[in-house]
Amino acid sequence: MKAALLEKYGGEDAVKIGNVDRPEPAANEVQVEVCSASLNPFDYKLREGIMKENIHINFPLVLGGDVSGTISALGDGVSEFSIGDKVYGLANATKQGSLAEYTVVSISQLAMIPEVDYDTAAGLPLAACSAYQALHDHLQLASGQKILIHGGGGGIGSLAIQLAKFAGAYVATTLSARDKEFAEKLGADKTIDYATEDFTKLVKNYDSVFDTVGGETFEKSYLVLRPGGKIVSMSAGPNHELDAKYDITSLHQSTQASSERLEAITKLVNDHALTLNIDKVFNLDQAAEALEYLKSGHPKGKVIVRVKS
Ligand SMILES: NC(=O)c1ccc[n+]([C@@H]2O[C@H](COP(=O)([O-])OP(=O)(O)OC[C@H]3O[C@@H](n4cnc5c(N)ncnc54)[C@H](OP(=O)(O)O)[C@@H]3O)[C@@H](O)[C@H]2O)c1
Repeated sequence: MKAALLEKYGGEDAVKIGNVDRPEPAANEVQVEVCSASLNPFDYKLREGIMKENIHINFPLVLGGDVSGTISALGDGVSEFSIGDKVYGLANATKQGSLAEYTVVSISQLAMIPEVDYDTAAGLPLAACSAYQALHDHLQLASGQKILIHGGGGGIGSLAIQLAKFAGAYVATTLSARDKEFAEKLGADKTIDYATEDFTKLVKNYDSVFDTVGGETFEKSYLVLRPGGKIVSMSAGPNHELDAKYDITSLHQSTQASSERLEAITKLVNDHALTLNIDKVFNLDQAAEALEYLKSGHPKGKVIVRVKS
């Protein structure tokens, strides 16, 4: 089968289109004939070898995690799904990814797709589960509360804005000036240009921060929270010293795109509470270019790789 392969650590030229064997599903996995895949920063960080001390990979690696498609084979013990089911979920991006004609997905990270096209479904798993896990499970955001979301123009941030508005919260978000209108359309009440404005001067006494940026942005977020407030970060923390100083609870989230969360996302999408903005669609032959575009092209929302028309 055709696949986008990482042949070595590096930049755009480390990714090549090639042929590999079709993967067979193990117990509690299904084989998915891929319609679309979507890209996440994890995929170019993996390409660059940023995590090579912690994550071992065998070259060539089929890249990609997010996937939508139809089930083409069942592993032992799978009774929850049938061949032909339209599904979406998260393949194992460090072992057998989704940028290929076929992939395998654990049934613990799989659900039936919402009433949207395959491109849209593929854009949801990691980003939407990240936003849902943070806002629903960790922050337990409630109506009337105030939240600051860092990175509101990005894949996770643009979904988090919508989930926060759906919960009835007041939403401020930091982003690039170019994403201001986009975030306002999604429901953001206050937008802050990260390049020219200091969010610590514009936001005070908030209940929660959801940080998709990390670094200094995470550290400065303590200044905008009320005592007893919470920070969930995708890229930093926790910082127990600052937690104690400001009476805050901080948490570094490792997202689990579980079937339960995917089912919750399916319902939110079908209820029109959550929409995905697709910035650009590439085809499988353009996978290397698509990854570079995600890294440097400042997309609004998600970048999709369509495998099957
Ligand atoms: N821990 C986990 O399990 C997990 C899971 C998923 C993702 N992540 C991480 O979460 C992060 C976000 O993921 P994503 O998919 O949302 O990425 P993304 O689509 O690239 O979005 C990031 C957004 O942040 C904006 N941004 C950059 N610097 C900023 C700043 N200083 N202040 C405010 N906004 C800023 C970017 O805008 P411009 O492009 O215009 O600068 C972009 O819109 C990535 O680092 C990813 O690796 C972690």
